[in-house]
Amino acid sequence: MALRNILKLDDAMDAEILRKKSRPVEKIDERICTILDDMAETLYDSGGVGLAAPQVGILRRIVVIDIGEGLLELINPEIIETEGTQDGQEGCLSIPGKSGEVQRPNYVKLKALNREGQEVVYEGTELLARAFCHETEHLDGILYIDKATEIWEGEE
Ligand code: NI
Repeated sequence: MALRNILKLDDAMDAEILRKKSRPVEKIDERICTILDDMAETLYDSGGVGLAAPQVGILRRIVVIDIGEGLLELINPEIIETEGTQDGQEGCLSIPGKSGEVQRPNYVKLKALNREGQEVVYEGTELLARAFCHETEHLDGILYIDKATEIWEGEE
């Protein structure tokens, strides 16, 4: 396993990658599993709750999330249901030193593939629902600052 460098929005070349749309994973092979392993290691090293592949320079639809309840590995994640709203603060590893107020659904149901290629369905509320939205949006080049009603200096 290896730590990957996290791209930052304030770097022009990084920003260009962060704004691109990621392609679906078509075949889950050893390379994809290595990316998952490295992303998890990078996530835990960063202290964040989620990381999307474009944030480490890989334009593939891969996300790792751990809100403190165990690691979720999501390949080709798709939000299939949402309910309600929540208002709360959000930050991003690619936008250090800032946080913002973002409205998200309070409940999110998501489907994805696991590393065995099996379809998995997850349901999340509150922080997990927020992480599902934030991370899947990274795969389309969308960042939380695009939707924040207010942005502050200082980590969340
Ligand atoms: Ni982020």
